Amino acid sequence: MKILVTGGTGYIGSHTCVELLNEGYEVVIIDNLYNSKIETVDYIEKITGKKVKFYKDDCCDKEALRKIFKENKIDAVIHFAGYKAVGESVQIPLNYYHNNLGSTIILCEVMKEFNCKNIIFSSSATVYGLSKRIPFKETYKLSTTNPYGTTKMFIERILTDLYESDKDWNIVLLRYFNPIGAHESGLIGEEPNGIPNNLMPYVVKVATGELECLSIFGNDYPTKDGTGIRDYIHVVDLARGHVRSLEKIKKDKGLFIYNLGTGEGYSVLDIVNTFERVNNVRVNYKFAPRRKGDIAICLADPTKAEKELHFKTTKTLEEMCRDSYNYAVKNRGQKWKKTNI
Ligand code: WQD
Repeated sequence: MKILVTGGTGYIGSHTCVELLNEGYEVVIIDNLYNSKIETVDYIEKITGKKVKFYKDDCCDKEALRKIFKENKIDAVIHFAGYKAVGESVQIPLNYYHNNLGSTIILCEVMKEFNCKNIIFSSSATVYGLSKRIPFKETYKLSTTNPYGTTKMFIERILTDLYESDKDWNIVLLRYFNPIGAHESGLIGEEPNGIPNNLMPYVVKVATGELECLSIFGNDYPTKDGTGIRDYIHVVDLARGHVRSLEKIKKDKGLFIYNLGTGEGYSVLDIVNTFERVNNVRVNYKFAPRRKGDIAICLADPTKAEKELHFKTTKTLEEMCRDSYNYAVKNRGQKWKKTNI
């Protein structure tokens, strides 16, 4: 089977390409390299020993997408491409709505034209918003607190309406919790550009000396140590969840929604302490006021994916911390420029 991976040179996309190739799928990547680098194609091929077809194009470019479908018999699409920075989305919401929604609509129109109606969409736990009921179940009401999260919620709605209009579509909406870690080779990983917004890339930059000190946003939450709790999932486990989703729509038809998380929560201090211990490094930190929009605890109920996808995470927090640091050390000083929107 040939899979088109949009955003396939990105953090989660590249790890998913590796797992797809390892499982014998053929992979075609479309990526505009706005937030990733071309070398990642070589690294994917080096890790797997398999070739990948790469198109440097934008998913908003209908003719470029048509060309890919004309040149390749695409059996399914895994759609990662999109802007993903929460803070940035608040500053430039129109860019986020135009790019994330527009590219998805154009992609689905071209898929329909070529009678390819199998799509797995990269959604996010952010669609659960400020829900107080934890752990989060797929049936919970959605609400979002930033334009990035709202694009995910809107795209879930678009794909649901598309399915309701034509039941030949097979759609999987995957709600990621907090992906961290990197492939054990250290060849692919999270490429935090500039000052990272997310916790792990920031911890890594403090550990490598690129940044001075981690600010821990809030130590007065109603949690065991006062710091925020999240459901961290190793990016390789997350990637494997996409392979399981493909297997699902090969045998069952319909629209499916799954949390991809571990069901295990760790606090910010758990992350810092574990990271220091497994990597034998110091991570300087100070407590700072809570970050606007943060919730105390975000945790997946992973049972639906376990039952229906036979998906179970295997990687430990120690592995997540070790692999994150290993990638950073191996790629220290590698500068690449994220193009501006
Ligand atoms: C984790 C914890 C912070 C940075 C975001 C997006 C979500 C998803 C995952 C895409 C929180 C604390 C963080 C720092 C800190 N991305 N923190 N100092 O906010 O749970 O989720 O990334 O889908 O959409 O919202 O992840 O890594 O930013 O924060 O103390 O410098 O670390 O308060 O408790 P978050 P995060």
